[in-house]
Amino acid sequence: MLTIDLTGNTALVVGGSRGIGAGIVVTLARAGAHVVFTHTGRHPARVDELLSAVRSAGGTVEAVAAEATAEAEMTACVEALVAARGQLDILVHNAGRNQARPVETMTLDSWHDALDCNLTSAYISVRAAMPHMLAARRGRIILIGSSAFYNGGGGALDYAAAKSGLVGMMTYLAREYSRKGILTNVIHPGAIETDLLKERYGEPEQRAALVAQMPVGRLGVPEDIAGLTAFLASPLGDFICGQSILVDGGRTLYR
Ligand SMILES: NC(=O)c1ccc[n+]([C@@H]2O[C@H](COP(=O)([O-])OP(=O)(O)OC[C@H]3O[C@@H](n4cnc5c(N)ncnc54)[C@H](OP(=O)(O)O)[C@@H]3O)[C@@H](O)[C@H]2O)c1
Repeated sequence: MLTIDLTGNTALVVGGSRGIGAGIVVTLARAGAHVVFTHTGRHPARVDELLSAVRSAGGTVEAVAAEATAEAEMTACVEALVAARGQLDILVHNAGRNQARPVETMTLDSWHDALDCNLTSAYISVRAAMPHMLAARRGRIILIGSSAFYNGGGGALDYAAAKSGLVGMMTYLAREYSRKGILTNVIHPGAIETDLLKERYGEPEQRAALVAQMPVGRLGVPEDIAGLTAFLASPLGDFICGQSILVDGGRTLYR
């Protein structure tokens, strides 16, 4: 039987307490990885719930409160992880936030906030992880982008710009670091059922309209993103790098 086996791997999921990140934590742990995930500290009950769920299913997992935009906190998190585990094999950068609003209502401060949360945070994660992956000549970096990169959706200029920036980051990393054993890809989710989606499509009629746009006939769930993440992190992904992959039930291109 073909399985995804991440036994012996240590993974860091940046922004893993809820939604897509939590789905990735559960799936990587189910595949046998030791998973460390970060969160803001603002939803402690969700963190506890996730830790219990993974542990009761036999997985090994740890949570670290670390702000993804704070370089010192993230560097300390990675250093502690490597000191304890000896290695960081898989980095998933999932932290992100979106506030749909027209350009006319934006301010320079709100632009900087969005870029910090959605793009600079990814630089910080990669910067912290890279020396350890280079030393091991081995690593998988998976950035969580957005279908907004393809079609300008998501309802915010800063969000679309930041998610496009992740693609530039990924192409650079694939070009410069694949030969050094570090493979990077971006997964672009579209319309996945999470708190972030509920904030934008809270009403039943908005949700129904969204489902009607989905060629596969349903919204996505975090496990839809998590499965590909585990695949790319595993030996099954050994020949895949520098890719931007839409996981959106066909909505972005075929709605
Ligand atoms: N849902 C979708 O349809 C969709 C579509 C396209 C792209 N995406 C992308 O997928 C990713 C996850 O989205 P989601 O829908 O799962 O969002 P979500 O439900 O709002 O969850 C966001 C997760 O990221 C963490 N996080 C956010 N900002 C952080 C920060 N500054 N520092 C540390 N942790 C932070 C949150 O931690 P706390 O629990 O501590 O707040 C939470 O675990 C995002 O990058 C988003 O842009 C989602």
